[in-house]
Amino acid sequence: MPSEVSRVTQSAQAPLTARRAGPLKGRVRVPGDKSISHRALIFGALAVGETRISGLLEGDDVLRTGSAMRALGAKVERSREGTWSIRGVGVGGFAAPADVLDFGNSGTGCRLILGAVAGCPITATFDGDASLRRRPMRRILDPIALMGARTTSVQEGGRLPITLVGARDPIPILYRTPMPSAQVKSAVLLAGLAAPGETIVIESEASRDHTERLLKHFGADVTVEPEGAHGRKITLKGEPELHPAPVAVPADPSSAAFPMVAALIVPGSEVIATEVMTNPLRTGLITTLREMGARIETLEIRDDTAEAMADFRIQASRLQGVDVPAARAPSMIDEYPILAVAAAFAHGTTIMRGLKELRVKESDRLAAVAAGLRVNGVAVEIDGDDLIVHGTGGPVGGGLVATHMDHRIAMAFLVMGLAAQKPVRVDDGAFIATSFPGFVSMLRDLGADLS
Ligand code: S3P
Repeated sequence: MPSEVSRVTQSAQAPLTARRAGPLKGRVRVPGDKSISHRALIFGALAVGETRISGLLEGDDVLRTGSAMRALGAKVERSREGTWSIRGVGVGGFAAPADVLDFGNSGTGCRLILGAVAGCPITATFDGDASLRRRPMRRILDPIALMGARTTSVQEGGRLPITLVGARDPIPILYRTPMPSAQVKSAVLLAGLAAPGETIVIESEASRDHTERLLKHFGADVTVEPEGAHGRKITLKGEPELHPAPVAVPADPSSAAFPMVAALIVPGSEVIATEVMTNPLRTGLITTLREMGARIETLEIRDDTAEAMADFRIQASRLQGVDVPAARAPSMIDEYPILAVAAAFAHGTTIMRGLKELRVKESDRLAAVAAGLRVNGVAVEIDGDDLIVHGTGGPVGGGLVATHMDHRIAMAFLVMGLAAQKPVRVDDGAFIATSFPGFVSMLRDLGADLS
């Protein structure tokens, strides 16, 4: 590992407390998008030649993907903060790693690289922390088995640690993803890169499309067609030579969500969030918050880049409860914890529908969010896969929230504490470093009381 990497250790818990203070004011540029950062490193490693990346998220999750690419034979170098170069080995060119690939807390890194390794004739062992070891991997192992990869060791229920033997002659498949998941789609496409002929993925609901966009950016032949009312059909022509292409990573909308909601709920606040990626498959939260009455003004838009981005002005607002349709879930799947916090500050009931996938994130987020709201005096129900929050305009707070090794649970409830009547504590803020290093100092710079 490079010296710049600070690893999240499971032994050192870091409790944090957020308290009500004055209004939040200022400009923020949150770190680079996590999904694109992982993919930039992976595609760089599969291209022949040197790819330069700027604005890379240097969170623990992404750094582990960088380490995995290095262990698989790519040359990965950091020249300064966010600026990395990667010299790839070409499609199908990964070398067998000497050690276990340890993905820490990162489902995305682990699942995408399971796909990438599945198309190479090597053996690799995948592992992660206690949270990742609980998460389902069968959703990846099933399609890559159809493509010719096999496992020689896997824990019950298809969990890590897993030893994977990649296919010598990978078979292209047509695969219908059983759940809306960009990780599953991406794993199949990454395995399909090394297969002759066409690999086709059909999803009944469109999930984030960064893999498709980056495949094109690196020179692969990919077509995307609509499928049914909300779905897509992605066709990839196998065995391309991927060419290095520079990647400028925009600010992560899933990280920007935290200062945005903080600005909405702390009275008198006005915050500008800059260069936030506006890919429509990622902006369901902004749509929902605007329906709730949030004053979120789009300032400058930039769409001359691979992914469009915009600056937003967010002002403290009176929020109203809303009904969030299940069809919107893929475009805001990581934002439900912070939306639930916004809902607690709204007037009236918010119903968030179709949240089955939240049960298998870094924690069971449906249960963790409901428990966190309850200990802070918010009335909440789980009805099947729906989360129902009864907002009162301002929760009491005062609770200690169990974060279950989940960065977004920690950040969401710290934001709650910035406006609740009593301070909110989280049992462990250490995992925030997986996706948003600098979260605490950024909020403090805006005027927040966090310690
Ligand atoms: C991601 C996809 C989503 C999301 C995760 C990042 C990606 O997971 O929750 O944080 O980069 O592909 P699923 O594919 O499991 O929905």
